[in-house]
This record gives sequence, structure tokens and C-alpha cells, in this order.
Amino acid sequence: MNSNATSQNTKNKKNVVILISGRGSNMLSLIKAAEHKDFPAKIAGVISSDPDAAGLKIAKNHGIKTAINELKTYPDKTSADRELTKVLQKWQAQIICLAGFMRILGDDFTEQWHKKTINIHPSLLPKYKGLNTHQRAIDANDKTHGCTVHFVISELDAGAIIEQTEVEILPDDDAQSLAQRVLIEEHILYPKVLAKLAAK
Ligand code: GRF
Repeated sequence: MNSNATSQNTKNKKNVVILISGRGSNMLSLIKAAEHKDFPAKIAGVISSDPDAAGLKIAKNHGIKTAINELKTYPDKTSADRELTKVLQKWQAQIICLAGFMRILGDDFTEQWHKKTINIHPSLLPKYKGLNTHQRAIDANDKTHGCTVHFVISELDAGAIIEQTEVEILPDDDAQSLAQRVLIEEHILYPKVLAKLAAK
């Protein structure tokens, strides 16, 4: 490919901003996928709701811009969401990927970024919205568990489902062993879904 074609290719890539709050393993799976020259998206930045999130360091080590959007530094949630939008606009975000982002985004935000914001959740939604999904699946004697990528609306883990991966629950599983196997699938599913969305 000549240099013109390469720069054209980069130009056509969708700008993605990832929102995190913690360790950032799903964020890293997206960053790594986007490092491939044919991936249809590039990571324009990472925003964390927690200034101490481990994922921030990982993003910086990959040369990715970072910002903090910490709820307690704003008068209310709407102001925090508005500031988030300002940064997303400044970075020309076209797709927003929530990856362990521990804040429910308000109506104004989710309507403005409707069908442009996606999230990964560690359960086969609509089962087990919220936290402790692995233990809840084991306690319910489910045969399968898994992960879901869905569009984000202001109701927790309730937006339209895009794609899911099932994971078998083994007789010896505890929440930790199950979480580990689900996480492996999350890291495959999320970049796959992002690639499809960005290519549209
Ligand atoms: C993942 O299990 C994800 O599905 C959920 O929060 C966790 C974040 O983990 N939304 P990480 O920060 O991506 O490692």
C-alpha cells in the first residue's frame, strides 16, 4: 500500500473514546485491536471516572490521550455528563465504548450519543443486570453464562443487545473461575463488535 492509501485508510477510521473506571482489561483489548492497520477504528482517547484507575496508566503507556471525569468534582451528575460531552466533542468521538465505566449516564447524554455508545456487560443480558453477575448465575444453577455488548441507554444494562458470547458453567466453577473464562470471551467479543459498528 502506498503512503497516500495508508493516510486515506487512517482518515476513514472512526474515532473511538473509551470510558473506564478501573483495571482496563477490556480497554486494552480495544487498544490492541485498533493497533492493527486494517481495524476500522482508532482510539482517540480514554476518560476515567476515577483518577486512580489502573487503566489510565495502561492507556498512557500506549500513547493514548487521557482525561478524568470524576463525579464528586462536579455539582451534579448532569454537569459531569455535560463536561464528558465537551471532551468527547473536542476529541471528535464518533463511537464511545464503556469498558467497566461505573456511572450511569443520564438521559441527555444517552440521547445525544444514541446508538453511538456501547457497553460490555458480564452476563447474558437481560439476565443479571448490575453487579455480581457470576455468583448470581452460579446461584441460579444456570448451565450457561457469558457476556453481552449492548447499546447504552440511561437505564442500567438495558439498551438493545448487539451480540453475546455464551460460556458454559462447569460443576466446579466459583465466581472467580467463571469470571476469568467470561473475561477471555469479553476480550474477543468487544473488539469484534466495535469493528462491525465502526465499519458501518
Ligand atoms: C468487565 O467484566 C466488564 O464486562 C464490566 O466491568 C468489567 C471491567 O473490567 N462492565 P475491565 O476494567 O475491562 O478489566
